[in-house]
Amino acid sequence: MINSMALNSITITKPDDWHVHLRDGEMLKQVAGYTARQFGRAIIMPNLSTPVTTAKMAIAYRDRILHATQDYPEFEPLMTAYLTDGMDPQELVKGHAAGVFTAAKLYPANATTNSSFGVSNVNKIYPILEAMQNQGIPLLVHGEVTSPEIDIFDREAVFIEQIMQPLLKEMPELNVVFEHITTKDAADFVESQSDNIAATITVHHLQINRNDMLVGGIKPHLYCLPVAKRERHRQALRKAATSGSGKFFLGTDTAPHAVGDKESSCGCAGIFSAPHALENYLQVFEEEQAMDQFEAFASLNGPAFYGLPINLQQITLKKISQKVPKMIGQKALAISPYKADETLSWCFEPEPQSNEE
Ligand code: NCD
Ligand code: ZN
Repeated sequence: MINSMALNSITITKPDDWHVHLRDGEMLKQVAGYTARQFGRAIIMPNLSTPVTTAKMAIAYRDRILHATQDYPEFEPLMTAYLTDGMDPQELVKGHAAGVFTAAKLYPANATTNSSFGVSNVNKIYPILEAMQNQGIPLLVHGEVTSPEIDIFDREAVFIEQIMQPLLKEMPELNVVFEHITTKDAADFVESQSDNIAATITVHHLQINRNDMLVGGIKPHLYCLPVAKRERHRQALRKAATSGSGKFFLGTDTAPHAVGDKESSCGCAGIFSAPHALENYLQVFEEEQAMDQFEAFASLNGPAFYGLPINLQQITLKKISQKVPKMIGQKALAISPYKADETLSWCFEPEPQSNEE
């Protein structure tokens, strides 16, 4: 429900983040709280250096996440399986039936960070996709082709044509989330499809275009995959996110990498947006004069697509300015957060009952 003092404060159903990279080990311990602090649930990406391909691995990883988020006991990680050419469909089906796997993630081989075990040719996993269609297991797609001859800025649009459309023709009932869409092509495509096709949109793709990354010096901390596109695509994403369509929902794709791995001659892709994700998303909705659509995008559309209940708790954001730290974390694992050292105009309140004015 939208607070009547909509300009200075907004109270909504607690949001979920439908696309998160939490990593493992010390990095997991360092970053997990940022997601657990703002979100009720999160879809956890399986692209660890050894990908999460079995229910046993997912249970063990979930336990490590729960351990790292002990300060937020209500937080619920939703686990995903990493699809490979050789995966046994039964592993996924059984893992889903047992409540371990919420969904499965398709990375085209070598499309992004830790995707060398990904799918080399979608035709090879048709038996798995058929099983997913039958069981109603959502397929989460990194929608970029990887052929060297396709320009990096065209890889999402070409994916729609070469992979997504033929796939949906074969499997019209498959539930598909087109993850972190970055183009007008993808937004239009998703909007044109039936209700079983949805998309997540990151906050950075709503806020930056490729100029932000490349003009006036290269900004490695704004480099992610899929890479930010032209301004007209950013505008189309803003329109889609704030349109009120139930097909679009929040997925930050928060993807932490240590500063040294970003500021390098071969820098990693990924933006660490978890610490102030909600403040930045809300800023977009405010600028688009669509604050009344924020709750649907952040808290309602995702659960509806996944067939899950909405969160019972509420959260409040207030119009109080705050500065994003320059750096988060320690020594070799220090990370430059999204919008480091910039001032934000909204502030998330972890405890709505706190007496802060
Ligand atoms: C992600 C990562 O670092 O794991 N990077 C990114 O740029 N988004 C992988 C991914 O989602 O593509
Ligand atoms: Zn991702």
